Amino acid sequence: MQFANRMKQFGEGVFARLAAMKKQKIAEGREVIDLSIGAPNIPPPQHVMKILAEEAMKPENYVYAITDTRELLNEVSDWYKRRYSVDLDPETEICSLLGSQEGLSHISLTLIDDGELTLVPDPCYPVFADGPRIAGSGLYYMPQKIENDYVIKLSDIPADIAHRAKFMVVSYPNNPTTAIAPESFYEELVAFAKKYDIIVLHDNAYSELVFGGYHCGSFLEFKGAKEVGVEFNSLSKTYGLAGARIGFCLGNRDVVSYIKTLKSNMDYGMFLPIQKAAIAALRSPQSVIETTRNAYIEKIDALIDGLNEAGWKVDKPKATMFVWAAIPKSFASSEEFTLALLDKAGVMVTPGSAFGPNGEGFVRMALVQSPENMRRVAENVKASGLF
Ligand SMILES: Cc1ncc(COP(=O)(O)O)c(C=O)c1O
Repeated sequence: MQFANRMKQFGEGVFARLAAMKKQKIAEGREVIDLSIGAPNIPPPQHVMKILAEEAMKPENYVYAITDTRELLNEVSDWYKRRYSVDLDPETEICSLLGSQEGLSHISLTLIDDGELTLVPDPCYPVFADGPRIAGSGLYYMPQKIENDYVIKLSDIPADIAHRAKFMVVSYPNNPTTAIAPESFYEELVAFAKKYDIIVLHDNAYSELVFGGYHCGSFLEFKGAKEVGVEFNSLSKTYGLAGARIGFCLGNRDVVSYIKTLKSNMDYGMFLPIQKAAIAALRSPQSVIETTRNAYIEKIDALIDGLNEAGWKVDKPKATMFVWAAIPKSFASSEEFTLALLDKAGVMVTPGSAFGPNGEGFVRMALVQSPENMRRVAENVKASGLF
């Protein structure tokens, strides 16, 4: 069998090695606490699960959805108005996605041709780079450095690169660095995109998971944003609906129209009961989100207070469901440290290098375990002798 050359870019690399080591540890009867994958596991509100179950019992809901129902589009438009003060035309400025990951990967096929250039953050959430790669795009990495509070410095992008770039992906609150961006960044971003005629994709998966008095809104709130790009949003983290696969692409009507056309050739739309569940979630009292946020704060406090006590100096994240931590200087690479941490502490994290060259020197921990397990992580780190 001969497979496509493009698949050669997608090796399993460090994840396969980590998975094998985890399996081996478990076979030896040792405990492994896994903080490597950012799969949210706080369930959705009861009333959302009830609607999904009721709608799933209706035979008429098993037809192809084909498109988004007007009820869903209206609800999303109301959500953006209520939450972000952004006006969106339900018909032309909103498209549902089978999770934002699906849209973030497929949209490149509508924006870029073989050999063209995309600007992506470094480190970045993998699909930001993998989507363009699938479409045959070259990548230019925009560093997110600690000295700039992990915010991209647009003025550092060489003019010839900016002239060649077709589109760029940005995302704050940021996975993996947990950074948030100031308003001035978004103003600069719109001006930059206009100057160089670059389409902006802003991924806003974590605007509700922001802690410590910070606030995040939407890229589309900024003047001129809709002229240059779109935002991706998701109900996965906000409403605990990760497995139901509910995301949206919103904003510029040309970009939205192209992704709709592409998707009409790829899938038959979101299962109707899931569209109903999405509507129910968006109508939920906001206290649901506050409960989720508080659950993450409890995990953060348990983990970070414990790690600091164990000698690993780590800052509490301002946002997201991750912790981004510098590795001890004695380790040559984040991969080496990750393997040592798994071996000596039974704690599995993701090496920063898996997110791009500028992720080297860090690891990412996902806040996916109970507060008790988070405390155990810190105890195990302390006992490991690594710090
Ligand atoms: C930054 C970011 N964007 C998008 C996604 C994908 O979310 P969804 O479940 O909507 O596909 C994730 C998931 O971890 C994420 O961290």
